[in-house]
Amino acid sequence: MKSLARRTDALSQSDIRAITKLVNAVNGINLGQGICDLPTPEPIKQGAQQAIADNHSIYTNYAGIKRLRALILEKAQSYNRIPATSDEEVMVSVGSTGAFVAAIFALLEADDEVILFEPFYGYHRNLLDLIGVDIKYLPTTMPDWSIDFDLLEQTITPKTKALVVTTPTNPTGKVWTRDELERLLALMQKHDLYAITDEIYEYMLYDGHEHVSLASLPGAYERTVTLSGFSKTYNMTGWRLGYAVAAPPLIDKMGLLNDLFYICAPAPLQHGVAEAFEMSDVYFEEMQEAYTAKRQLLCETLEQIGFDVPWPDGSYYVFANFERFSHTYDGFDDAQEACQSLIEKAGVATVPGHSFFEIPERGRYFLRFCYAKEMPILQEACNNLLNAFS
Ligand SMILES: Cc1ncc(COP(=O)(O)O)c(C=O)c1O
Repeated sequence: MKSLARRTDALSQSDIRAITKLVNAVNGINLGQGICDLPTPEPIKQGAQQAIADNHSIYTNYAGIKRLRALILEKAQSYNRIPATSDEEVMVSVGSTGAFVAAIFALLEADDEVILFEPFYGYHRNLLDLIGVDIKYLPTTMPDWSIDFDLLEQTITPKTKALVVTTPTNPTGKVWTRDELERLLALMQKHDLYAITDEIYEYMLYDGHEHVSLASLPGAYERTVTLSGFSKTYNMTGWRLGYAVAAPPLIDKMGLLNDLFYICAPAPLQHGVAEAFEMSDVYFEEMQEAYTAKRQLLCETLEQIGFDVPWPDGSYYVFANFERFSHTYDGFDDAQEACQSLIEKAGVATVPGHSFFEIPERGRYFLRFCYAKEMPILQEACNNLLNAFS
């Protein structure tokens, strides 16, 4: 038989899904996959149920229902301070991932160069790979994951078209500062570059860190696609609802691509998620408070065991380094082995660090832990981890 498309050659089941299978087999606790096991807020669920009862069952506008786009616009203006002026500059998609796909198809061609900051979120790398762009990696390093702007400028060539910025970042929890974003924008303007910013964790911030959207800086909006969504903020990863905000003509082309790929996001769920905007700000305050306590519990537990733990400034991940004790205990020679050992010894799943680096060796001593769990479950996972090392 003729072979399958070459573009699928490099694709395989992600580590994260494979690890989920392993930990389920021992009935363990999954701190690997970035999913939240907290319930979706009631008003959103009721809104979707009502929309189903009201037969909101047909295709919507390819960029989303008007009410939802108007609400997202208002949020983009007030929370993100993005100078969008019309709901035509908002596109609802099948998760922020759907919007990322539309953005890269609208912006990039094979052989364009794109800069990705490392450690990176795997879907970004794999989707960029799939469309054949040439990815240039810019390392950020422990403990603060800061950017070497000289190195960044040296990485830019005449073929560079765009950068992908994730803030707060998965897996490190880095939150880009205003100063960093201003320096980035200066380079974007100097070298005529676009940015795609993934801000899916924008409401998960600690120790007074501020979320700054690149698109809010003067002169940035016309060259920036801002992505966000509902998956993480409202514990609804399976609903597949996210969005992009960008200026025309870019957002227009993204809308046409969104139509081609998905036709639209699920209609009744769009109506349901619109209810999220009617919820009071207390929701965000309580979420911050809960994640702050979970971050503390997990970071302190890992420090007690001997991990080197750069506490995250945002998101709900800890990217911890075990090089210090890799030769003290059996089964910690590299991240793959360490991940397997923690499943066997503590019934706790993590993600091996190599998944987040261009050269897997760079992630050899890292594990990513996700603390988006109900507190009693996270407590049990932490107790199991401590017992495994006692
Ligand atoms: C940085 C980042 N972006 C996007 C996503 C996926 O978002 P969505 O569910 O909106 O497609 C994730 C999920 O883990 C993520 O970590």
